[in-house]
Amino acid sequence: MENNRIVLGIESSCDETACSICRDGLILSNVISSQAIHEQYGGVVPELASRAHLQHIVPVVDAALRIAGCRLTAGSDRERINCIAYTQGPGLIGSLLVGAQFARSLAMALEIPLIPVNHMQAHVLANLIDDPKPAFPFLCLTVSGGHTQIVLCESADNMRVIGQTLDDAAGEAFDKSAKLLGLPYPGGPLIDQYAVNGDPQRFIFPEPQIPGLDFSFSGLKTAILYFLQGQLAADPRFIDHNLPDLCASIQSRIVSILLNKLRKAVLQTGVINICIGGGVSANSGLRKSFTEMGKTNGWNTFIPKFEYCTDNAAMIAIAGYYQWSSGSVISLLSGVSARVDW
Ligand code: KG4
Ligand code: ZN
Repeated sequence: MENNRIVLGIESSCDETACSICRDGLILSNVISSQAIHEQYGGVVPELASRAHLQHIVPVVDAALRIAGCRLTAGSDRERINCIAYTQGPGLIGSLLVGAQFARSLAMALEIPLIPVNHMQAHVLANLIDDPKPAFPFLCLTVSGGHTQIVLCESADNMRVIGQTLDDAAGEAFDKSAKLLGLPYPGGPLIDQYAVNGDPQRFIFPEPQIPGLDFSFSGLKTAILYFLQGQLAADPRFIDHNLPDLCASIQSRIVSILLNKLRKAVLQTGVINICIGGGVSANSGLRKSFTEMGKTNGWNTFIPKFEYCTDNAAMIAIAGYYQWSSGSVISLLSGVSARVDW
């Protein structure tokens, strides 16, 4: 049913400035400006990220409005924005403040509702953007640069983390392994690219034995470090000679750690609608193994489009749409938080 609920979503938690517009749950535009400046520093520099957000936010919002054919004021009911959603956290506090302050100012000037969105819950709800959508309840393996979680999602506003990493996130495991291989930041997508031509069985890295549904990746990183140190002592060009096999073997272990826990979560909960989300869900090895595991075990599997896996504002707009539809609108005084409780 159409009722012209038009949400403008803003994402600025890390190093992407993004804006998306969604009408009645349908994404009309999804604009992202990435910050290349961090590459030379080998990681995101918070101060530089905040400054870049300040430079990018107006053109990004302007482009999202134009592409969607929407307006902030005037226009018809099908054109006029009537709700603003923004990322409240978790994330870099200075980056979050830029998006939040812009969102609050817009909502105040336009006298329309404002909705704060949890970035990690939005990664889960990215699965509700396109059809076919998972029916509730579903499980989501949410894997990003800062988080690794298994989330039980009973409804769009009722989610619970049932497993999470005790140390590094899966994205960090990719990025730190890539750094050990001498690859630039962020190394996750590069490991994915090199792994395509490599043998995943060539080097076997250990799988940590962590009880329950929690994860740990710090031991893997240390094992890779010691393994490389040993090999490089014998052959200084070991990495150059074996890069695709190294990438395929590292990727295969990270993916098996993730999927073994996910299978355990399915057995424990009995839920068989299974999603993945977050930047690492863009990994081609994870997408392929996840789909195969789903087929083998009779799960209904769902994977967001690439553009909705890594940080984006479409997931913020869709989360805002569902939160607004369930009646949660907040005061203009609502702020940001580097860490957010569920
Ligand atoms: O969700 P996201 O875009 O930002 C956070 O909320 O953290 O996730 C970023 C993480 C980075 O660690 C990046 O290396 C990883 O996702 N990533 C990938 C791939 N694309 C992004 N890791 C492995 N393979 C990929 N194709
Ligand atoms: Zn993210």
